[in-house]
Amino acid sequence: MATDVITLITSDHRTVEKLFERLKKGQGDQAATVAELHALLIAHARAEEDRVYPGIDAHHSVEEHKEAEILLDALVRAKPGTPEFRKTLDELIKSVTHHVEEEESKILPALAKSVGEKKLKELGKAFKERRAEELKALSVPKQAAPPGSREGATRSELYEKAKEADIPGRSHMDKKELAQALRQAK
Ligand SMILES: [Fe+2]
Ligand SMILES: [Fe+2]
Repeated sequence: MATDVITLITSDHRTVEKLFERLKKGQGDQAATVAELHALLIAHARAEEDRVYPGIDAHHSVEEHKEAEILLDALVRAKPGTPEFRKTLDELIKSVTHHVEEEESKILPALAKSVGEKKLKELGKAFKERRAEELKALSVPKQAAPPGSREGATRSELYEKAKEADIPGRSHMDKKELAQALRQAK
């Protein structure tokens, strides 16, 4: 039996909160937790934008995703234990907590009201598939593409290169946009 999209999204939100707690308390491998948080939040936001937000007025939510993404990128760059890390983490938590509250109190109830149970399950399936795709693309290990083969590189390879080059907004770019941004950054 398929799970409805609201249950799936809410469950991700609770996972994100647990990761925030771990980071706030300085428990475990901080860099690994940041990497996990980064992948989960980006995949979650992408799946929402591509499969759930279309059809509902979620322009404001997309803006908030962008804000969170910028903070996430900064957190990945910051060294755990430094004041910079703490400051960025606090800002990210504040931004995401606000967004999650809005999603759970406005966006998701409005969605539940406007579509039936069957549609919520269909959306759940679509959300889950899109999220899995994105997670896979984000977790592929770094691979050195042979010189001049940029057009033939996969999105995840280009994404890794964009990360090294610190290209802003890279998580929202598709393969073509990433290749173009990398050429311009040269
Ligand atoms: Fe969400
Ligand atoms: Fe969201």
